[in-house]
Amino acid sequence: MEIRLAKTSGFCFGVKHAVESAYKLLDQPAAQSGQTYMLGKLIHNETVLEELKAKGMQLVDTVADLPDGAQVVIRAHGVPPQTLEALAGKGCAVVNCTCPYVGKIHRYAQQACAQGETVIIVGTPGHPEVVGIQGECPDHSILLSKREDAEAMDFPDRPAILVSQTTFSYEEYQAIQSIVKNKIANVRIFDTICSTTETRQKEAKEIAAAVDMMFVIGSKGSSNTMKLVKVCEAQCGETFLIENPSEVRPILAGRATRSLKIGITAGASTPERIIREVIQEMTEQEANANQQDMGDVSFTDFIDNIPQLKRGATVKGVIVRYDSENVYVDVRDKSEGKIPRHEFDADPDFDLDQAIANHTEIDVYVRNIRN
Ligand code: F3S
Repeated sequence: MEIRLAKTSGFCFGVKHAVESAYKLLDQPAAQSGQTYMLGKLIHNETVLEELKAKGMQLVDTVADLPDGAQVVIRAHGVPPQTLEALAGKGCAVVNCTCPYVGKIHRYAQQACAQGETVIIVGTPGHPEVVGIQGECPDHSILLSKREDAEAMDFPDRPAILVSQTTFSYEEYQAIQSIVKNKIANVRIFDTICSTTETRQKEAKEIAAAVDMMFVIGSKGSSNTMKLVKVCEAQCGETFLIENPSEVRPILAGRATRSLKIGITAGASTPERIIREVIQEMTEQEANANQQDMGDVSFTDFIDNIPQLKRGATVKGVIVRYDSENVYVDVRDKSEGKIPRHEFDADPDFDLDQAIANHTEIDVYVRNIRN
């Protein structure tokens, strides 16, 4: 089995910042009073949401559901200015994790609105990011979700700006730009699709075109994940959307995995941990299939004899030391693995000093091999 993992898979900058901020907040003494909330799901990943809830963060959908003086985390999608005003009115302490790229679109819309320009937003109706931007110019914004909307629209006769949701399809936005330019003489167009999204879609497309099966890890509720599925489906007839490792087995069951080329990408809300577990599940399933082919050989002997350290494999490693940047693991074969410190941040209870003292063994995904 050959596994190709997209380099751009997993948390984007904005989601990572929001999740890290939430965990940090939960570590503070004030969080122990049970007054810490996320306004809307912080991330489109049920595992992470459950972890946050277990640590004491409550989920509410509206400001009306919050008690006065609560600590509130705003997710990367951002909120309309009216929501921030309502939170201030209730005396809430706000940790605003609106992604800076989304914040920039809010500023464009706010300034354009103040100058009397129409704010044309391209995006999915009802998506929280779009709702937030609309709030900057409630009376003079127009929402387009596809090129047909732009063709049918009778735009007001005044200057306008055109912005898009950060995770919108690049091709569709280009098509809408051409239509709007032909219909409005004075329109300023902003390139607001997040480069992370664009790069992720391009890489997924390239990988999907070269493999037998493509796995997209993420949630159905995530806009960027569903766009990835669409992009991959256009290239690879066997594209599967999965949310967690347990869905791998039934999909691969009965397949001859040895010569299979599998591509993997993941949405911006998928933690690295889940990506690693999916890869581990795939490699274990292949190992099991190979063991059956080999008849009487014990699984331990089999594992001991395969060249474990290959790119894309998951191996066992013992934590031996760490510095400010990395954690080092002994993966045997006279090899040492280096793991960025931030990959351990998702579990704030993980004590590195104790792990070294206990020779703790962890699963390590081999991303790269250097001499
Ligand atoms: Fe921000 Fe781009 Fe992620 S806009 S939330 S870094 S997809």
